[in-house]
Amino acid sequence: MPSADPILPPPSPEAAEHSRRLAAHIAAAILDEGDWIPFSRFMELALYAQGLGYYAAGSRKFGVEGDFVTAPEISPMFARCLAMQAEQVLKAVGGDILELGPGSGVLAADLYGELKAAGAAPPRYLLLEVSPELRERQRARIAERFPDDLERFVWLDRLPEKLRGFVVANEVLDVVPFSLVRRTGNGLLERGVILTEAGFAWDDAPMPDGELKRRAAAVFPPGEYEYLSEIGLAAEALVRTVAHSLEAGVALFIDYGFPEREYYHPQRSMGTLRCHYRHRFHGDPFFLPGLQDITAHVDFTAMARAGEQGGAEVFGFTTQAYFLISCGLAVLVSEGDPNMTLSRLKATSAVHRLINPSEMGELFKVLALGRGIDAPLLGFQSARHIAL
Ligand SMILES: C[S@@+](CC[C@H](N)C(=O)[O-])C[C@H]1O[C@@H](n2cnc3c(N)ncnc32)[C@H](O)[C@@H]1O
Repeated sequence: MPSADPILPPPSPEAAEHSRRLAAHIAAAILDEGDWIPFSRFMELALYAQGLGYYAAGSRKFGVEGDFVTAPEISPMFARCLAMQAEQVLKAVGGDILELGPGSGVLAADLYGELKAAGAAPPRYLLLEVSPELRERQRARIAERFPDDLERFVWLDRLPEKLRGFVVANEVLDVVPFSLVRRTGNGLLERGVILTEAGFAWDDAPMPDGELKRRAAAVFPPGEYEYLSEIGLAAEALVRTVAHSLEAGVALFIDYGFPEREYYHPQRSMGTLRCHYRHRFHGDPFFLPGLQDITAHVDFTAMARAGEQGGAEVFGFTTQAYFLISCGLAVLVSEGDPNMTLSRLKATSAVHRLINPSEMGELFKVLALGRGIDAPLLGFQSARHIAL
């Protein structure tokens, strides 16, 4: 997890030039689209504009030399625990694994490797990745680790209509473009972006009647005081579609976030938008477009509801710490070679980051949606269920 630090390191001249090109591309879109774009459109362009957006171009992103570190990058124990859960699901319903947003490909490689070692490799490991640059990175990593199994890995352009097996999306919902809604004394406004002489600037516009307005009115805390927050309708649509496709199996969505009552808490009156740049975080999405990630916490109540609308059942919702421990983390850690003291210590401290309540353990949650499985899921058996 990065730290909040107002002093942000300057980019290299090439990176700064890249960012200027993306900023010009977004500026042209604003002019083309009526001099105002909703924040969700700004975010879509900043992260995914072809060849330029943060996820679509070649910056490092993941790991120590990138902007942030995710759980599968921190410790292979994350994938080992997921493999225990995946094995249970695949034994029950058969089918494939589908990973959404596989990033650097480390989870795909480690998860497949664990299942293969256990004699439980799925016939196909499907990967749905919107970024062509990341697809290439994933392919290279997997080709190096499993040159003889490469044909089992299939990159998809869209979600399959029917799906059976185990689906996992780690830190994907938080980067799906979301809307910003602001409540003022004069009602609800959608926060958008305009172009000024000084660059991009916020501009709040009245909202037409529709789902965004209805939702904000329903979830914002009562009162007329200033309140700003995010609403992730596109992430909900993604979850709904996954749930709809899933004939039998389980989909796990792992991310930082809260249930609705905590998300739209009166004290969280400035929302949760957060930008990640070289292991620092801050709240300015206009800073160096293309060189930083833009995210928000996930409203898991909304995601669970979307899953149910898609026809799936909620099988569990708990913290990452409880999920990993319930999958057998403690036993897996104790299996290491006791003589390799230094590497063991390093491995233990990485695991600690995954479950420590002040790091990823409490803030990160695991939501399981599924169909066609009767037995309780391994990762939620002894876990503390959180009310959605
Ligand atoms: C924060 S990264 C997480 C990467 C990886 N899951 C991990 O844990 O290291 C988000 C990933 O989701 C991908 N992504 C974003 N929106 C997506 C969508 N709608 N469908 C599939 N992948 C998406 C990004 O390109 C990126 O690979």
